[in-house]
Amino acid sequence: VRQLKISGKTGESNILIGESLKNLGNYINTEKSVIITGPNVYRFYKEDFPECRVIEIGSGEKVKTLDTIKYIYEKFIEMEVDRSSTVVGIGGGVVCDIVGFVASTFMRGIDFGFVASSILAQVDASVGGKNGVNFSGYKNLVGVFNQPRFVICDINMLRTLPLKEVKCGIAEVVKYAAIKDKKFFEFLEGRSRNILSIDLDVMEEIVYKSVEIKSEIVNRDEKEQSERRKLNFGHTFGHAFERISDFSHGEAISIGMVISSKLSVEQGLLSSSDGSRIEDLLKSLKLPTELVGSSEQIKDAIRKDKKRDGKMINFVFLEDIGNAIVKQISISGLESIVDGMY
Ligand SMILES: NC(=O)c1ccc[n+]([C@@H]2O[C@H](COP(=O)([O-])OP(=O)(O)OC[C@H]3O[C@@H](n4cnc5c(N)ncnc54)[C@H](O)[C@@H]3O)[C@@H](O)[C@H]2O)c1
Repeated sequence: VRQLKISGKTGESNILIGESLKNLGNYINTEKSVIITGPNVYRFYKEDFPECRVIEIGSGEKVKTLDTIKYIYEKFIEMEVDRSSTVVGIGGGVVCDIVGFVASTFMRGIDFGFVASSILAQVDASVGGKNGVNFSGYKNLVGVFNQPRFVICDINMLRTLPLKEVKCGIAEVVKYAAIKDKKFFEFLEGRSRNILSIDLDVMEEIVYKSVEIKSEIVNRDEKEQSERRKLNFGHTFGHAFERISDFSHGEAISIGMVISSKLSVEQGLLSSSDGSRIEDLLKSLKLPTELVGSSEQIKDAIRKDKKRDGKMINFVFLEDIGNAIVKQISISGLESIVDGMY
């Protein structure tokens, strides 16, 4: 088991890579704790859960709502959950986001931890202290910053993850390598087959490197005022594609990263051969790289980006593989860029 730490203003988080769900009982008082999980993970891993009360919620983005939060508060009252309890989310990013929010708000905040079961949850959603739910069509609109006390990344659980979800998580992994670590990028370039077949040794290395990169960034900038913005590489366009197509988040940001790389090349920041390497790696991981939608649709979606700052948007470019820079560009500038792409 390898450990990484996040020391945030909202607490310390101990991330355990290679730890097993079977050992969860060592981290909590099982008599007082409550596990929250989704149907798929419960079905596959029920036997590995410690003897502990369980609240099962539904699955998918559609359950990330205040209605689910209300349902859990009601269950907590019924179960007499109190300040001495720990709430543990076992599942993907949806479960982690819900559990972080519900535990941070019930009785003004009780102890919580995660067993992250998807690649996306292990490398991204469980790390960094952002928790929350969707509201009125806006993603993650209602939430808090608060660090889980522990995160268990059980690599074995990735064996049952559907391929679609593997690709979704791996797009964020490529992002970490592209913005921060050239060596890691090279490691990924040689291992697309191992990744798609979920080779557990390779996956463990990938999860560790990704968490290392994200935790270093979060340790420097917990609330996204500077360094953490780099994590939005590919996301301005990605979010737009996610809105206007049936692509998953990971697939959409894959296209977003290709476009951002091309723009970096156009701006003379990145060499065109490095731009192609990014596209090639994403293709080898079976992720989409071609533009979707009309220019009007993309512009409209960009205008709705919640990370915009008035008329400006912080856009992430690459200067090199492993080195990102954030530049403010105007929304209108970005709109002409979109027009130029057609
Ligand atoms: N808080 C953050 O910083 C942050 C960062 C990134 C993403 N997120 C959020 O994470 C969510 C997406 O997370 P996700 O991709 O894990 O989706 P998810 O939680 O919906 O999981 C994807 C699917 O895989 C299933 N699953 C999970 N683990 C499994 C396993 N081991 N075996 C078999 N099936 C398994 C789930 O039941 C689900 O059907 C989004 O809501 C996103 O907003 C949050």
